[in-house]
Amino acid sequence: MFHPLRVSAIERITDDAVAVTFAVPAELRETFRHTPGQHLNVRYSVDGKEIRRSYSICAPAAEQPAAPVVRVGIRGVEGGAFSTYALKELSVGDQVEAMPPMGRFVLKPRPGLFAAVVGGSGITPVLSMAATLLAQEEKARFCLIRSDRTAASTMFLDEVADLKDRYPDRFQLITALSREEQSAGLPSGRLDTERLTSLLPAVLPVADVDGWFLCGPLGLVRGTESALRALGVDRTRVHQEIFHVDDGPSDVTVVKVAAPSDSTLTATLHGRSGSWPVKETESLLETVLRSRSDAPYACKGGVCGTCRAFLVSGEVRMERNFALEPEETDAGFVLACQSHPLTPEVELDFDR
Ligand code: FES
Repeated sequence: MFHPLRVSAIERITDDAVAVTFAVPAELRETFRHTPGQHLNVRYSVDGKEIRRSYSICAPAAEQPAAPVVRVGIRGVEGGAFSTYALKELSVGDQVEAMPPMGRFVLKPRPGLFAAVVGGSGITPVLSMAATLLAQEEKARFCLIRSDRTAASTMFLDEVADLKDRYPDRFQLITALSREEQSAGLPSGRLDTERLTSLLPAVLPVADVDGWFLCGPLGLVRGTESALRALGVDRTRVHQEIFHVDDGPSDVTVVKVAAPSDSTLTATLHGRSGSWPVKETESLLETVLRSRSDAPYACKGGVCGTCRAFLVSGEVRMERNFALEPEETDAGFVLACQSHPLTPEVELDFDR
């Protein structure tokens, strides 16, 4: 469900990125309280066309009873309708519609050692995680390994430097720039599997890390995953969120599957059920959207996870999946925007 929120501040944080803060009315404070790592799905109309995007919340999570701060990072994407709009035209006082914070790429404050490997705008949710963790849990430490093109393109430079100043013993920062040499830190170049496999054990006790958080372009996340696997890290300690699929290697098989000619989808959404014929080649999300405009989605590209639904019966084939963890697909969850029926009857439950 979408709620109207007003923009209360816009700060330019690099040449091509802004941080946008939304004012949360008193009656929506609990609704917009976030867990560090979650994102906001926004809906806006540009030139009469509805656009939806998801943006991670960079602000630390507020402890009760303080009001939540809803501040997101937005980086300009070439041809990106909302990001172009946000960078050039969005003004304080404008109204957008936003769903309550969501997402399962989260870190709730607890004692332990945590590490993140992030690239580009992948810092956004991790900034919220690190800032909240260090402020709320004295027995926690955080190691941030970040990769950016140049210092000028690095988002949230000041906020990260501030963490270093405030928590010199509990926050460790390693910076890699792919296109620029720096006076301190790592030599320039991309962080690939080989480099990470030797770098990680050199900067922190890999076996003692309680949780790994990988966020950014597909190539960096997959490369870090391989390095962690090579270093013997248990898969259950690794959490990931992919931001840019186009950037990554072509290790993704996109499977186009035509629906059996007479498939029927039954779906439960917000407590109400309906059944509809599935048109050939349309995704199950598109089938639901023809009759139910309240079906949840943002990216329609298999990346954000907003359209997650439980497959109650039947079989589906997903074209691609960058959002669900193996445990979720094993438990029966699918991405409706990527699913096509393989059986004449399919039932989805969006409420689980
Ligand atoms: S809408 Fe983003 S994964 Fe389906």
